[in-house]
This record gives sequence, structure tokens and C-alpha cells, in this order.
Amino acid sequence: MAKDRSIYVCTECGGTSAKWLGKCPSCDAWNTLVEQVAGAQPGSANNRFGAPVFTALAGAAELATLSDIEATDMARTPTGLDELDRVLGGGIVSGGVTLIGGDPGIGKSTLLLQAVDALQRAGRNAIYVTGEESGAQVALRSKRLGLDHSQVQVLAEIQLEKILATLDATRPAIAVIDSIQTVYSDQLTSAPGSVAQVRECAAHLTRFAKASGTAVVLVGHVTKEGALAGPRVLEHMVDTVLYFEGDTHSSFRLVRAIKNRFGAVNEIGVFAMTERGLKGVANPSAIFLSQHAEPVPGSVVLVTLEGTRPMLVEIQALVDNGGPSPRRLSVGLDRDRLAMLLAVLHRHAGIACMDQDVFVNAVGGVRISEPAADLAVMLAITSSLRGKPLPKGFIAFGEVGLAGEVRPAPRGQERLREAAKLGFSVAVVPKANAPRKGAKEIEGLTIHPVERIEEAMDVVRQLQ
Ligand code: TYD
Ligand code: MG
Repeated sequence: MAKDRSIYVCTECGGTSAKWLGKCPSCDAWNTLVEQVAGAQPGSANNRFGAPVFTALAGAAELATLSDIEATDMARTPTGLDELDRVLGGGIVSGGVTLIGGDPGIGKSTLLLQAVDALQRAGRNAIYVTGEESGAQVALRSKRLGLDHSQVQVLAEIQLEKILATLDATRPAIAVIDSIQTVYSDQLTSAPGSVAQVRECAAHLTRFAKASGTAVVLVGHVTKEGALAGPRVLEHMVDTVLYFEGDTHSSFRLVRAIKNRFGAVNEIGVFAMTERGLKGVANPSAIFLSQHAEPVPGSVVLVTLEGTRPMLVEIQALVDNGGPSPRRLSVGLDRDRLAMLLAVLHRHAGIACMDQDVFVNAVGGVRISEPAADLAVMLAITSSLRGKPLPKGFIAFGEVGLAGEVRPAPRGQERLREAAKLGFSVAVVPKANAPRKGAKEIEGLTIHPVERIEEAMDVVRQLQ
């Protein structure tokens, strides 16, 4: 390890130190020093006020007028896994860097092995760099996936310089680095997986991708809490960020695009983990519903819109006598939003849960961020509080504001049609989302349009 080649830079003030210190010698901030390769950072030529000095660094680079630059559309290569291509915006882009994050064991390695094998079979050279597992383990997985005679090249290596040399010599169409947390550069003394190593290695691999045209996929582990040494610091560096979601206990997995320079964000791909790998689910609208023979209190089906597809997700609530400081817990939904909805429920509909524990859950490990879930959450809470189920075939969606108003959700008609298609028969939705008077009705669905939360509660009381 070459200690003398690295320096420590403060993330707060940009000050530097030759060795690691708990406190930045320049600005006195704690735990802000991060290792960097000396010479690679602009702060090494600072003036006495800490501003970088740009003169006499190198010859000026050439400018181009925007309209003179040829706008070339990105060439995409479909991976052949339709659901993955959907989130990628059509396929992998040459020179593009993709980060795939997710909990350990969720299926990142499985999905990527399937993808690179499909690409290899389509005549694109693929290299799978494995730092987490041995070549034998990767081979075992490929057998399990039924990928016999796979021509994918496997490189069991974790040293960045060696990986780059191999990639440079072979110039594959796609290279998967599984995972970025295991890779280390011997230019830095920090341990593999530390922020400094992950950032430095990813920067080198990104540079390689841009220079060579190889599509690079970085695998990163993310813990449930989102606290991680790694992937989050890379998000701004890469072109596309995909996250795996889903409950490892259920077989369904969602891959969501958080950022995509080459396509739409918030598009999702849905897979089912089977004995032979991940299989795309082309019609995922009904997979997040649990089966109740008869309606149960505290359960409401929400029609949510994920990317371009409407999906039905069961929202469950449990309201129970709490102690002196009642708990509010949510899985798959935002907890702050839950607190807000409880306040709105109290203030505008007169339904108090002050002395109650309130738990809400989106079934199947799916994460719902859209505010259109509000109405379903509030109805589930009220249903649990009263111990009364909603009628059979009931669905709801709509955002609820602090003033108690029920606001329309985007593309309401599509949501209603999807619910009707799946046999749902009663809907409570924002007025603006209901078909206008005289417009064509949605067959099989009785729609109750509401404008305010108290109105929604009245409608539901009559239905129960
Ligand atoms: P893996 O891809 O190793 O997860 P990650 O790389 O995200 O850590 O997936 C591991 C899990 O998937 C493991 O629990 C076994 C299961 N699995 C299947 O159910 N079927 C399969 O065909 C394969 C390969 C794995
Ligand atoms: Mg893995």
C-alpha cells in the first residue's frame, strides 16, 4: 500500500491533511476527512483563501457551440429481459454506467447473470467481475438458472487496477462489477467498502466506460435503513440508478429506476423469484393483494400508479390501544405522512387515534411514495378503529390535503379501468377523477366521487 500517495480532504471546507484525523484541522468539523488520491483533487492547488487556482494548470480545452454538436441518439441494446429493459428505458446504453442497489439476497446477482448471459447469447461480449463470490459459486448459480454452456467471461478479482487492465484488454460490450463494495484500489489505504474506496473505484470505472464504450453495471448493497457506505454516494456519478424493492420472504421483486439519464424515472420492472431465477411479470397489477375469503377490518385496496402501469396494492392498518406514548409505524409508506394524515383525520373528520397505536403496511414489501395513497390509508385506519370491514370489491385512491380536501390523482381513469378489469366493484375516489356526468361509465364499477375527507367517511359509513 502506498501511503504517501493519498491525502485526506475535508468534505466540509476542502481543507487537507496528510494523515487521517478525527477533527478537520482547518474548520474543526468532526469526521469529515475522506481519503483521496493526491493530485486527483482540485484543492491541491488552492490559494490562501482555499479557492482553487486554475491558471497555468493546462492548455485551455476546446469549446463547441451547442447547435453544432451532432445530437446522436443513444444506441440501446435490449437485454432480452423485458422487465429489465422497461426500467432501463429500452436496454443498456453503450458507455452508460448503471448502479443496481438493493438488500443482500434480493436477487441482484441473479438478475445480472441472467442479463449478461442473454446479451452474450445475442453476440455481445460480457464480463462478469465477481468480488463477492468465487468463480465456482457463480458457475453453480448459472447451472441453477439453466444457463448451460454460458460463454460469459468470469473474472474473480477485487483489485481495481487489475480489473481495469483486463477490461481494457478485452473491451467487452458490458461489464458487471459485483459488487462495487468489494473492489479496492491500492492507491488508497482505506479498507474496501469505505466511502473513499467506493467513490474512487466507481470514478475510475465510469471513466473507463465513457472512454471505451463498454456499458458498466455496478452492484451495490443497500441496507433497509438506507444507511450505507457506498451506493448513495455514487448516485450522482452514474447515468442510471436502479433499486430492488420487495420483501425477501415473498417471491415478487420490483426494480425501480430512481435516476435515468437515458429514460423515464420511476418506471418499474416486476419479477418473480422462481426456482430457476427471476422471471418477468408482464401483468403485475394484482400481485400485491392478499387473499381474504371475506373482507377484514383495516384492509383497503389502493390503486397506485407505478411508472406507466396501474397496480393494486392492499393497504393494511391496525389500530390498537396504546400506552402513554402511542406508536405510529409504517412499512412501505412514509411515516411523517402517516402522522399528518392522522391529524387531518382528527381535525376534519373528528376521528381521533390519539391514545392508539397505529400501524400501517403496504402488502408485499412494495414501497409507495405517491400521495394518492392517502385516502386508502385513512380509510384503512378508520376501518380498523371501528372494527368494520369495507365492502367486498372496494378500492380507493386520492391525495388528502391539510385542509381536508381530497385532491385528484394523476391518470384516474386508467386506475379505475384497471380496478374494474380485476373485478372490483365499488370505488371512493376524488371528484375530479370520476367520469364526468354523461361520460361513458366504467362497467361493473360503482363510483362514489368525494371532495372532502368527511364526505368520504360518510360514504363509507353508509357502505359498511
Ligand atoms: P442473489 O442474486 O444472490 O442476491 P444478491 O446478489 O442481491 O445478494 O439472490 C439470492 C437469493 O435468491 C437466494 O436467497 C436464493 C434465491 N434464488 C432463487 O430463489 N432462485 C434462483 O434461481 C436463484 C439463482 C436464487
Ligand atoms: Mg450478490
